[in-house]
Amino acid sequence: MRLTMVGGGGFRTPLVYAALLRDREPGRVTSVALVDTDDDRLRTMARILAAQADGVDDAPTVTTHTDAAEGLRGADFVFSAIRVGGLEGRAHDELIGLAHGVIGQETVGFGGVSYALRTLPTVMHLADLIKRMAPDAWVINFTNPAGLVTEAMSHVLGNRVIGICDSPIGLARRALLALGLEVGPDVEVDYAGLNHLGWVTGLRVDGVDRLPELLERPRQIESFEEGRLFGAEWIRILGALPNEYLHYYSSRREVLHSDQLASRTRARYLLEQQNRFWEDAGRAPSPLAVWEAARLDRETTYMATNRDSAGMGERDEEDLVSGGYEDVAIALMRAIAHDERSRLILNVPNAGTIDWLDDDAVVEVPCIVDAAGAHPIAGARVPDFGRGLVTTVKYVERQTILAGLSGSRPAALRALAHHPLIDSVQVARALLDGARATFPELSYLA
Ligand code: G6P
Ligand code: MN
Repeated sequence: MRLTMVGGGGFRTPLVYAALLRDREPGRVTSVALVDTDDDRLRTMARILAAQADGVDDAPTVTTHTDAAEGLRGADFVFSAIRVGGLEGRAHDELIGLAHGVIGQETVGFGGVSYALRTLPTVMHLADLIKRMAPDAWVINFTNPAGLVTEAMSHVLGNRVIGICDSPIGLARRALLALGLEVGPDVEVDYAGLNHLGWVTGLRVDGVDRLPELLERPRQIESFEEGRLFGAEWIRILGALPNEYLHYYSSRREVLHSDQLASRTRARYLLEQQNRFWEDAGRAPSPLAVWEAARLDRETTYMATNRDSAGMGERDEEDLVSGGYEDVAIALMRAIAHDERSRLILNVPNAGTIDWLDDDAVVEVPCIVDAAGAHPIAGARVPDFGRGLVTTVKYVERQTILAGLSGSRPAALRALAHHPLIDSVQVARALLDGARATFPELSYLA
């Protein structure tokens, strides 16, 4: 089986390759094609993967390609994880946001819309190319903002594109651990919403919902990250466990304040850290060790300003070990390739599961996956207090897609002005002008 990773020179590629190396089953991936625009990074990445494969029998072969069409030929699966405009672009979004008093994070609010407007033309071109070069391939989209990008790509690829994120299962895993339990075949997680905007509404173990039990135990709630972020009192009032990205909504003022006080934004921090990493890894005799150290640092500092604003301390040891992102991707790929029925939380067209949203809206919900793809399980339930937010943010996503696909500036302005994290039309207009002045690639908006 052949896997093509678009954005394969990206930092998280070794996580996926490590998971592939662990897979010893028949029908596993035997060849990996890395596609990237950056030749130097591809070369360094190939050295890191070679170090990972050292001593492993029948490790998947790795090829590198700067020509996407060539890398896509013959792919059974395509992983798409690209960052249009790089971390520099992400850093600009944060600064433009802060300059106008709004959060510029890469997937929520202004940052999410601006990043999507840069990304959409490229991912649509990619979707067309995949359709031409590998028409039977399944596409697993990691590119952020993942829900919106998946919805746009589904216009070309239909149900062959599936979006993934590690945050829902990460939340479920931490909550189960607080109850002394683990994710397993006997566990069914109820989750509903959009990407980076959803809630765990049930943790059923052998058919018994254990969430009410957790909600009765404040100390257990505050034993894990999201519990500390939102506080046990608020989580008990909600009666559901919010995705960590909802913190930007429920504590927008505090997070903004903490972002304003920080000496560097997240992207600025990562830009320096990653530049150092690529330089060191390019020269190091053992680039794998350099990568591992950089990965640990990246996990340790994840969402630091949110944690600061909530007065939380360091992250827990178990949250620094990876096993989210790549595990969801590999589980999804195996379920489709081997027709192994599995239950996974994925970004797919709604198809009636949230009964008040239309069928084509991409939502993040539990799905049954088999050889025919991902099928949302009927009856996903967004808590009542979340309905308005989900409806509004879906509207924002769709106006963003409309702007990205048609070049409509009014649609881009509608998206920004209606976003719950942007508090005036004047500010929305100033943000759009700021983004257009900063990013030449947004000149298509007229
Ligand atoms: C989580 C999110 C991803 C996001 C990543 C960002 O895993 O679910 O969507 O890409 O964190 O982390 P970063 O290190 O880039 O801030
Ligand atoms: Mn995510």
